Amino acid sequence: MLNKPRIFFYLQRILSGNYSRVRQVLKDEVRIQQNQTVLDLACGTGNIADFFDAVDYIGIDISQDYVKFAKAQFKKEFLVTDARQLCFSDASFDHVIVIGLFHHLSDTDTLSTMRELSRTLRRSGHIVIVDAIPPVSRLNILGMLSRKLDRGKYFRYIGQYQRLFGKHFVIRRKYQTRWWPFDYCVFVLDQKPV
Ligand SMILES: C[S@@+](CC[C@H](N)C(=O)[O-])C[C@H]1O[C@@H](n2cnc3c(N)ncnc32)[C@H](O)[C@@H]1O
Repeated sequence: MLNKPRIFFYLQRILSGNYSRVRQVLKDEVRIQQNQTVLDLACGTGNIADFFDAVDYIGIDISQDYVKFAKAQFKKEFLVTDARQLCFSDASFDHVIVIGLFHHLSDTDTLSTMRELSRTLRRSGHIVIVDAIPPVSRLNILGMLSRKLDRGKYFRYIGQYQRLFGKHFVIRRKYQTRWWPFDYCVFVLDQKPV
């Protein structure tokens, strides 16, 4: 059912309070200067594209249906491509935003994606990641249930994400946050010095 873009688009908006927590994280962590470029990696149906109004933005996703829906919904650029093998030249982006991708990817696929991000991000660029983690409290039954029903099969604890991301990037900041009943991790990554 979630493969249907319209259902995914509205359900995600309802369950996340129109992405209010994610939008707050982006406000806190992303500083976009004039003429800088933003890649929204695994943008889905473009749920946060409107946050990047008046910015040189491109959203990519592996799902043709989601990208078609996003194109119809927002006056922005969207492209079908695989995060593990990006069709962009080296040092194309100043900012990369990744919301909710990595709990869908195995460790091997996460590392391939990280390698591609390291290649396509400028030396001075930054990555902001928000992803799902298992419920912090065992009493959070609704959180547990929602994670079980999720299509993603690779929920990780913050330390496990840290080990994977740290292989290709410097971790500037990491923390946990919550939009009840969902717990998330936030990572801000910089390029490793050469
Ligand atoms: C939980 S959704 C998040 C979508 C969007 N970022 C959001 O927050 O609404 C995960 C997305 O990852 C996409 N995805 C999964 N594997 C991918 C891959 N290898 N390359 C690009 N996108 C991928 C899915 O199609 C889906 O749109």
